[in-house]
Amino acid sequence: MLTNFKIDNFKSLTDFSLPGDESSLGKFVCLIGLNGAGKSTVLQAVDFVSQLVIGDVSKWLSSRGWERSDLVGKGSKKRNINFSMHFLVEGIGDLTWVGSYNSQQGRCTKEELSFVPFPSLKDDGFFPTRSVVFNFESGVIRDNAGWRRDVGDYTGSVFNKFKAPSSGANRNDVVAIYLLRYVLRGVKSLELLSPQLMRRSSKGGGDVGVGGETLAAFVYGLSPQEKEQFFEKLLEFYPRLDSASSKSGKYGWKRFFISERYENSTELDARHVNDGLLRIAAIIAQTVAKTPPRYDDAKVNPQQRGYQFVLLDEIENGMNPEVVERVVKYLLEVRQQVFVTTHSPLILNYLADDVARKSVFLIYRRKDGSSGATRFFEIKDVADRLELMGPGEAFLDVGLERLGAKLSRS
Ligand SMILES: Nc1ncnc2c1ncn2[C@@H]1O[C@H](COP(=O)(O)OP(=O)(O)O)[C@@H](O)[C@H]1O
Ligand SMILES: [Mg+2]
Repeated sequence: MLTNFKIDNFKSLTDFSLPGDESSLGKFVCLIGLNGAGKSTVLQAVDFVSQLVIGDVSKWLSSRGWERSDLVGKGSKKRNINFSMHFLVEGIGDLTWVGSYNSQQGRCTKEELSFVPFPSLKDDGFFPTRSVVFNFESGVIRDNAGWRRDVGDYTGSVFNKFKAPSSGANRNDVVAIYLLRYVLRGVKSLELLSPQLMRRSSKGGGDVGVGGETLAAFVYGLSPQEKEQFFEKLLEFYPRLDSASSKSGKYGWKRFFISERYENSTELDARHVNDGLLRIAAIIAQTVAKTPPRYDDAKVNPQQRGYQFVLLDEIENGMNPEVVERVVKYLLEVRQQVFVTTHSPLILNYLADDVARKSVFLIYRRKDGSSGATRFFEIKDVADRLELMGPGEAFLDVGLERLGAKLSRS
């Protein structure tokens, strides 16, 4: 679980920190705020940083139509994007990764990864039971056991390069790098989920795609049990559903179909399925899917394979309020850590007060235009209201415009 995230000089995020205090993020994180406050940018930032290790930044940029120079703050003279992520790996230990990405070179010029095992971690010869630190600076990577190596060419993070036990470092120490890849591989952004894209036929389908463009192929590739679970969950949202599956057509193109139980009902292909259902289908597909185990994933967490995080922008889009309520309840229960953004005060009403207190963050623009984050229900004006009304009403009553203006003055 990602418990703390900091980033500096990424688009509108300057010295940005979530949660922004000494506490930790929980399993559900909900970002609210005015248009242009920086909510989507926070999701992009988490996704971007994880791509440094598990993905291909050039591909990631081109899927958004961006260039590397779009990544840094406008008007900023700094080329580096500094970030830090802290993870709590259940039952295993704390993992902290700090880095500095040079937007001109397209790679991190400085990085540190540290692993501190929990005292309860049993020594089974797999995980290191003492702390491990990998440090990378001036082209040289070293660990605290004395291993060092000059680093040649790489893109993104240096931990892209030193991932295999064959790198020469102590095998146990390398597990720390493996853990970093393990937690980051789990980041799944559905932040550009677009019904237009989801309606398309697709091929391949390693995942749903950031815009949902490979939904059809992804659903096609689920295992029989996952398919069953996918349909069962979807049925909870749309009780009229009779079937929901993907079929393979000409040249292996997959198309998503549903049918509903009405008199004279026939099968509908994705081009005619409603937006809300498609979005929910993408969310469910992604949360029921278990990616196949790799390396020693089973050792890290025998029950939990597959994606660890889901990032969802504007979850309420295309859904009516009853469905949104079910989506929120569903997301509160999935095994993944979920980051959502929303404009809808309704969503807050579906959260218990204690959950709302812990998980809702207001994103706002500071005086200098950069984005800040603060726990929404700890703002005095809001906290006072929460004594008298539900989270959603407090959100409406306090008035985000006024609150935003007040915060940016302070
Ligand atoms: N490279 C950049 N540097 C500084 N600000 C940027 C950059 N790119 C975009 N922005 C600003 O970031 C703001 C936040 O946008 P966004 O995250 O989409 O807001 P939200 O999702 O809360 O509506 C936008 O108003 C935009 O002007
Ligand atoms: Mg947005």
